[in-house]
This record gives sequence, structure tokens and C-alpha cells, in this order.
Amino acid sequence: MKVVTTIKEISNIITSLKSSQKTIGLTPTMGALHEGHISLITKASSENDFSIVTIFINPTQFDKKEDLDNYPSTLDADIKLVENTGCDLIFTPNASEMYANNIDVESFSFDGLENEMEGKHRANHFDGVGTIVKKFFEITQPTKAYFGEKDFQQLQIIKKMTVKNQLPIEIIGCPIFREKDGLAMSSRNTRLSKKQRESAPFIFKTLTKASQLFQSDSIATINSWIQTEFDSNPDLDLEYFEIANEQTLQTASSKSESTKYRAFIAVYAGKIRLIDNISLQ
Ligand code: PAJ
Repeated sequence: MKVVTTIKEISNIITSLKSSQKTIGLTPTMGALHEGHISLITKASSENDFSIVTIFINPTQFDKKEDLDNYPSTLDADIKLVENTGCDLIFTPNASEMYANNIDVESFSFDGLENEMEGKHRANHFDGVGTIVKKFFEITQPTKAYFGEKDFQQLQIIKKMTVKNQLPIEIIGCPIFREKDGLAMSSRNTRLSKKQRESAPFIFKTLTKASQLFQSDSIATINSWIQTEFDSNPDLDLEYFEIANEQTLQTASSKSESTKYRAFIAVYAGKIRLIDNISLQ
């Protein structure tokens, strides 16, 4: 497995792969890798001739400088973890390599997907994600690219970007990996205090209960039940809970038989923001 840091080095490799018609699987990450990331990388390696992981903490997708400054960086450990996945190449550029000292962010329209949930609470987040993922797509020219359902809105937005720009890339959505107690794996979990870590599984517990209630109760009832649950939890602050149409991500207020729904949640444990979601089918 090779580790490269410059666009020039990776471009030479891509040119040679393309000339021998190899399929390329891409898994973009921001590092601090865990089993969730590894599941994506392993799938990419098994489904393609050549598997690439990008590790880059993208400054343009952070709305709070503090969150960027505190984002964990564990490159040596990441490289060790990726070695057992069948990955062929890690691309880990620095910010000036990707942005050429000019932190320009493209402005995207994802047909409204960007205005829901995370888009409402994290200003310009999806323009930053779109900008960097588009750059990685252009550089690596993948056949397939792998994204987790953990960031379900991001997954839908990347699918939309691919369709709107007619990119010849298949976007593969992968299931959420969880700790034994249900907490969705996240690079941010390492920043939780012992007490916050003990409280955090409450998020998936309430989501699971909400998915059971969805079979019999109205959306309004579930929304107010969730609010009450979090009001009585001193360690976790609910930012939003929404039941939304899985395709349009628009908030649902009533149920229709032919629509697929998902429940989405964002919660603060102190200053650490955790997100999760669950299918309601
Ligand atoms: P990052 O948070 O590092 O996540 C990289 C990929 O791993 C994303 O597709 C994410 O959904 C997936 N992932 C994270 N936790 C997961 C889990 N518990 N189970 C399954 N998949 C999981 O998402 C980003 O980075 C960035 O926004 C990026 C796309 C790299 C652009 O900078």
C-alpha cells in the first residue's frame, strides 16, 4: 500500500490505471478511522481493481473553527488500520495542496437537499463537502465511491451532485456501524468524557424506540415524546429530531404508504455534536 501526498503523484498513478482499464474504488474520509470507515474501505477494495482512501480534514466544511481545531488527527494509526483492508493507496494531501492557498468554496444547488436538517444547523457545510468531494472525484476518477449512511444527508447530496453533473461514478451507500451499546461510531466519540460516553447510547435507544412508535403513533406524538425524553436527560441537548422523506429529506408531518421515511437526530454532549439516523421501514 502506497501513501502519497501530492496531486501530481496520484495523477500519474490514475493515468496508468485508466490506461489499463482498471476499476477504481474511492473512500473519502477525514481520518481518525474506526470500524465504520474500515467497512467502507474493505467493501471498496473487494469491489474494485484498485482501492483509494483519502484522508483529509477539510477546513471548508467546518462551520465552527473550534470543531476544526479539535478534530482528531491520527495518521500513523490510520495507515496501520487501512493496511489490512486491501486498500492500494492512501492519498493524504495538506490543505494548500487541495486549495492552493486559496480557500475557495463552490456554491452548489442540490435541489433543496442542502437546506434541510444539517444544512439548517451548519452554515455552508454542504458547499464545503461538495467542493472537496468534487475535487477528489476529479483527481481520482473513481468507478465507484463509498459513503456511509451515518451521514445520510451527505450521501443523498453526493448522489445528487453525481447525477446533476453527469459524473460516471456509482455512489455506494453503506450501513451504519455501531458500538456494542448502539452508539454510532464516529471520530468525534474519542472526545467524549467518560460520563458523556456513558450517556451517548441514549441517542440510539430513543431512535430505536421512535422507530417502534412509528408503526402505531402519529409523527407529532413521536416528536413530542422525543422532546420529553431529552428534556429529562441532563447530559444530552437535543438540537433537532426530524422524521423526513428519505429521498427529498423534507420534514414529514403525516405518513403515506408509498413513501420511505427515516428519523434523523443531532445532539450535543457538552460541546461535542453527535448525529445519527434510522430507517423507519
Ligand atoms: P468522515 O466523517 O471521516 O466519514 C468518512 C465516511 O465514513 C463518510 O462516508 C461517513 O458517512 C462514513 N462513516 C462515518 N462513520 C460511520 C459509521 N459509524 N458507519 C458507517 N459509515 C461511517 O464524511 C466525511 O468524513 C467528510 O464529510 C468527507 C465525505 C470525507 C468529505 O470531507
